[in-house]
This record gives sequence, structure tokens and C-alpha cells, in this order.
Amino acid sequence: MNTHPLPSTSPEHGEMHHPSDLPAPSDPHRAPYAVRTPGEGSRGDPLAQLVRPGSIHSALYTDETIFKLELERIFHGGWLYIGHESEIAEPGEYRRRQMGRQPVILVRGQDGQVRVLLNRCRHRGAMVCEQDAGKDKVFRCWYHGWTYANTGELISVSGPEGYGASFALSEHSLTPAARVEQYRGFVFASLNGSVPPVIDFLGGAAKIIDLLIDAAPGGVLSVRAGSNRTTYKGNWKQVGMDGYHPMYVHASVLSTWERHAESGEGLGATHSDNPFGFDSISETRDFGHGHTMLDFRKHRLKHTGKFRAILEKTNGGKEYIEALYAEHEADWADMLIAMAGDPHLGVFPNLQLINNQIRIINPISVDETEVIMFPVLFENASREINALRLRQHESFYGPAGSGSTDDAEIFERVQLGLNASVEPWIDISRGMEREWIDSDGSIVGHITDEVPQRGQMRQWLAMMSPPDAVSEGAH
Ligand code: FES
Ligand SMILES: [Fe+2]
Repeated sequence: MNTHPLPSTSPEHGEMHHPSDLPAPSDPHRAPYAVRTPGEGSRGDPLAQLVRPGSIHSALYTDETIFKLELERIFHGGWLYIGHESEIAEPGEYRRRQMGRQPVILVRGQDGQVRVLLNRCRHRGAMVCEQDAGKDKVFRCWYHGWTYANTGELISVSGPEGYGASFALSEHSLTPAARVEQYRGFVFASLNGSVPPVIDFLGGAAKIIDLLIDAAPGGVLSVRAGSNRTTYKGNWKQVGMDGYHPMYVHASVLSTWERHAESGEGLGATHSDNPFGFDSISETRDFGHGHTMLDFRKHRLKHTGKFRAILEKTNGGKEYIEALYAEHEADWADMLIAMAGDPHLGVFPNLQLINNQIRIINPISVDETEVIMFPVLFENASREINALRLRQHESFYGPAGSGSTDDAEIFERVQLGLNASVEPWIDISRGMEREWIDSDGSIVGHITDEVPQRGQMRQWLAMMSPPDAVSEGAH
């Protein structure tokens, strides 16, 4: 719902700019099809005025024109996480996914190659793949029967005699995403061919993804345990990376965890002490590019013995521990056991690795978002270890879990509250006076600080606005 007038971009003239008047980004990493208005700079960009150092305008969550620009510039203009290669382990396996508004197919072709193809028939545009997941050698369009190989090539049209000699099947393949790259089995794609390599996009976040991958013996993840999805009536930017809310939104869960911590069992033990307390040593971290982390590493390392004890009394646990120490330096293996494959990382804009899941965020409209959660198993770990991971996932994030439903509820209340737009500014200043820069360049704050929110907004502005508008804000 567009309920806020945007601030004037030319205060001296009192002129009101609409976001559709925005200058298009000149940065090649942004959507290539936007039209740049010559001569516009930072002072002419209303979006630059919506993000202040410690506050943001609620139009970012409610304005439909801004939402459309986000689709163009962030979701259609940058890297997105698409899926994990283990989901399509065999030739012909596919998964239907979204890139912003654009439907795509993640598929492993008969040639073994992983592709991301636009899910749009080259005849008159119908989706050629309507199933969420499957395995086939071909995609056959339901509308008029054009048939594509799982490598994307058009292999036949119905009634070929109706097409002239100049019609070439080879010119009507399913359109591939402009770029597809992997980071250790995590498949990313972009509709913009000018994006930097995905490893550069990930930057310091890559090492945090390793916390999940290396926790699997041999580094082999299995993302084939199904998924659970939820939709909430709120803006996509509300999801995740907030360490300030659990003591309130999840108060009852935290008290349950405290009781379980005494027993040394399951999830409670991994949250010994309150990791979200005002006296916690847990941190928030901003790696740049909008990638942020609720950083429990120091906290959990204090409790490595408890995690090890849980593993040791789980069937296959001793072998699991031995495998990690055989494969990695002792310090890193200690860290892997302490973190239990939970990086708690947000990769801007649509990927989160939280607890035992890979999470994809799909914006549907300015006030509706879909979240899909894929529990991750370790291919070479025992059935009991994987069962423990699944039970942990279900207990908080599952459809009957104790946590995610409360998160969705609070996101909806936020969205409703933002409609009160007389005073439109949202405060994200917590911890600005005490955040610090680590040796790797990441910005660090207390677990309850809004370091992630500020980091995400910096990236949001960098992707939405011309570079000269954000030269001081981005890092
Ligand atoms: S739209 Fe696909 S065959 Fe006609
Ligand atoms: Fe939460």
C-alpha cells in the first residue's frame, strides 16, 4: 500500500518527485534495461533521502513503486540464490524457482550441467514447467506442445509444416539466466550479465557459508529432505537477522530452552545461557554487500563441550567428530562442532542460512512475502545425527514449530503499524555509538544492535541509487 508521500528531492523548489522519475543506475551491476535520466545525480534521487544513518523511511516497506524498482534493480539486477546442486543431483532433475517476478527452472541437463532457465515458452510465453520439483528429459509446453530438452533446446514444435524455412528450432531455446555460478554447491544466478563474480559478491560471507558446508563430513550437503513454506502479509525486507527481538517475540521459547539447557538435550543445549541477553557475548556482523550475521561464534565456543557431549551420545556421533578433526585444522573443527552447522547468515537479498536450514525469500508484493525453508542434512553423517537436525528444525521453524509463526505474526503487525504514516521514520540506530570495525573489515556490534539492519540498508541504497548518491554510505 502506498500511503506515504516521498520526501521532496528538491527542497529549494518544494518539488515532489515520484520514484518512477528516478534516474536509472549507471553501475553495470544493476538492471541493464532501466532508463537513465541525463544529468540526475544524488541530489535528484529521492531514494537517497529515504535512508539516513540511523533511520529509514517507512515508504521502503509500503510504497508499491519502490517495490517495483526493487524487483528491477535488486532481484532482476543482482545475484540471487537459486538452489543447491544436491537438489538436482541426477540428470533431468529440476526445481521450479523465482527470480523476483521471473519464473525460472533450476535443472541439471542430460549433459550433467546445472542451468537456470527462464520458465517461459518461446512460443507464446506459457510456463513450460509447472511442477515444483521433478525429473524428466523434456519440458513439454501444455499450451501447444512445443517440447524442450532439459538442456533448454527446443527439440520439436507441433505441426512443423506450419512454419517456414526460416524458422530455426535452434533460435528458440529456453532463455538461460545471464549468469550462473556456484559457491561450493550453492547455485546463484543473475539476469544481469554484468554482475561481478559470485565469489566477489559473497566476499566475507563465503567463509561463513563454510561453517555449514564444512560441518558435513566430506563437505557433502543433502538438500533433499523437502521444504516448508510460509507466506506472511509483510514486506520482504523484514525477514531475519534481528538479534534484538527473541527475548520478546520468542520469550516462551527461550524459557523452554533454559529448562532444556539444564538437561543437556537437543536445541536447548545449543542455546545455553541466553545468547540474546543484554549481557551476552554474541555479536552482530556486517560483511558488506548487505550480507549480515547474528554471530554466535564466541558464545557457542564457550559451550563446545556440551555440543560434543550431545554428539557423543548420538549414534554415529563419535565417527562424525573424528571425521571433522581428520578433515580440518583442530581450531576449525572445534568451531564446526560448536556451531553445529548453524551460520545464522543472511546473504542479501534472498538467502539465509539459519539453524539447520537454507531459506529463500521471495517477494510477492510490497506487503506479501513467501519464505521457503529447506532443512539441510549431512550426506555422510548417521541417520540419528540427521534426525536430530530435522527435529531441531521442526521444533522452531516447522509448520507447528514454536518460533517462525511468531515471527510471521510480528512482521504482519509491523506492516499494519507502518500504515500509520504521519510520522514515517523507523529507527535503526541501536548500537551506532558502539559498533566497531574488525580486522577483516566487517562491522561488529552487540547481538541486540541493529548492525545488520544498517548493513542491509546500505546495500539496498547502493543497488537502488546511483553511486554518487551513496559514496559515503556504502562500504
Ligand atoms: S505457448 Fe508454449 S507451445 Fe504455445
Ligand atoms: Fe524470530
